Amino acid sequence: MSNTIRKLYRGDCLNILREYIQPESVDLIYLDPPFNSNARYNLPFADKNKEYAPVEAFVDTWTWTADDDARLAEFKQMRDPRPTLAMIVELAQRIEQMGAGGGRRKRTNSLASYLLNMAERLLVMKRVMKPTASIYLHCDWYASHYLKAVMDAIFQKEHFRNEIVWCYTGPSNTKRWFPRKHDSILFYANSKLSNFRRDDVRIPYSESSVARTKYGNNPTEGMTFTVRVNNPKGKIPEDWWSDIHAMKSYRNEILGYPTQKPLALLERIIKASSNAGDLVLDPFCGCGTTVHAAEQLNRQWIGIDISRFSTELMRQRILSNFPARVLASGIDLVGLPENVQDARELAQANPFEFEKWVCGRIGVNKMGRRKQPGDKGADGGIDGEIILPVVREGKVYEESVVVQVKGGNVTPDSVKALSETVRRVQAVAGVMVCFTEQMGTVENQRSRETWDGGFGRQYPVIQGYSVNNLLIDKPLNLPPQYGRKRSGRISA
Ligand SMILES: C[S@@+](CC[C@H](N)C(=O)[O-])C[C@H]1O[C@@H](n2cnc3c(N)ncnc32)[C@H](O)[C@@H]1O
Repeated sequence: MSNTIRKLYRGDCLNILREYIQPESVDLIYLDPPFNSNARYNLPFADKNKEYAPVEAFVDTWTWTADDDARLAEFKQMRDPRPTLAMIVELAQRIEQMGAGGGRRKRTNSLASYLLNMAERLLVMKRVMKPTASIYLHCDWYASHYLKAVMDAIFQKEHFRNEIVWCYTGPSNTKRWFPRKHDSILFYANSKLSNFRRDDVRIPYSESSVARTKYGNNPTEGMTFTVRVNNPKGKIPEDWWSDIHAMKSYRNEILGYPTQKPLALLERIIKASSNAGDLVLDPFCGCGTTVHAAEQLNRQWIGIDISRFSTELMRQRILSNFPARVLASGIDLVGLPENVQDARELAQANPFEFEKWVCGRIGVNKMGRRKQPGDKGADGGIDGEIILPVVREGKVYEESVVVQVKGGNVTPDSVKALSETVRRVQAVAGVMVCFTEQMGTVENQRSRETWDGGFGRQYPVIQGYSVNNLLIDKPLNLPPQYGRKRSGRISA
């Protein structure tokens, strides 16, 4: 087992950073937290045929609570920068209240709550950063101006390096303002010792700059020229990046995660502010773009996300892109079921999270109908769906495999219901995920029907799959393209 750090934590980054990450151990932090957009982000794809309502990946809404009052009061009693941070939060609170229009709109103080939560987390991020480390905070117009003040207070104004403007294009239906097509990435050094590897991120000069340099050496009579020599290694990119496009341009990377960022963006940040072998941390890691780019660039990495689905998705992403490296050293996972006992406890305590965990681990491309924990509404017999490209007679078909998760008893009727669902939604197969002692019922009830998975191979229409098999990553009995489902590649 090598000592390379490859770690995924499932949990609130506030607790994980406090409890598990050593002080002054991290070389680079990139964070892309929820932006206070007041949105609910759904997983994973837009629902074309409206058959299944997508499940929420995470909720980006904040409301001021009594707990926030207590924490704000605590901040005021502490040493700098907390009292300054409390002032920024209170400023946001006042501005929000002014905008609430004399009570016509509900005063949620959501921006203030968001800022207080972010400030608390950024403080613990600073604690784990080495003096030579850097931090990149990805945000947008919702809160970037307040977050910059928060970052100035925590990391000091003189350690501000850039506000990188990542601009992109895309459709928009705005009528009263210009389409909002850029994000801001606030780049701070932890101290004046922080690394910036400018030569590793150089890009070619523009054609006009090359032309100016060429003719600058050949002055016309009576005119003087300052001859500028372009660096043969290329130029350092400006602080606005338009050569990295919106996610939809990187089709072979797209995993369907709603706020996924392009690998090229993370590649540039990691190359600029870390060396090979350094430790890169992303506390809001989503579908794992940072850890993917870090692995690709031979850095060590830590990814944290509060969602079980995300954490499993990241694990799958790394396993399927770097099988040889990961087999040699493994990925440390904290906060997800590690054995059958853990899985049973999760299934009993929170059946909805158990479903999400199974779906993430099994690699569904689409989630089922239930939206909220405790939602009693029928799930239409579908907890998740695996979409597989299947080749038959030279043509590619997108086939669907329905996943049903049972944390408790499986009855003969549940197996029949799964068969009916498969027929109703015109899927090719159904998988019943359950604990080992329920597998007999699935085996006894399932018909021996098979479907054509291409190249003359037949697969069972209904199959049982135990939680034990899930934990040892035993593949489902599906065509081999199922194993290649998480294949985002780094762009050239
Ligand atoms: C904007 S997304 C990150 C997307 C990511 N950059 C990518 O390329 O996939 C924000 C993520 O933060 C996670 N999150 C929200 N609150 C969190 C918290 N307190 N601790 C850790 N993760 C959190 C959400 O589950 C979501 O996956």
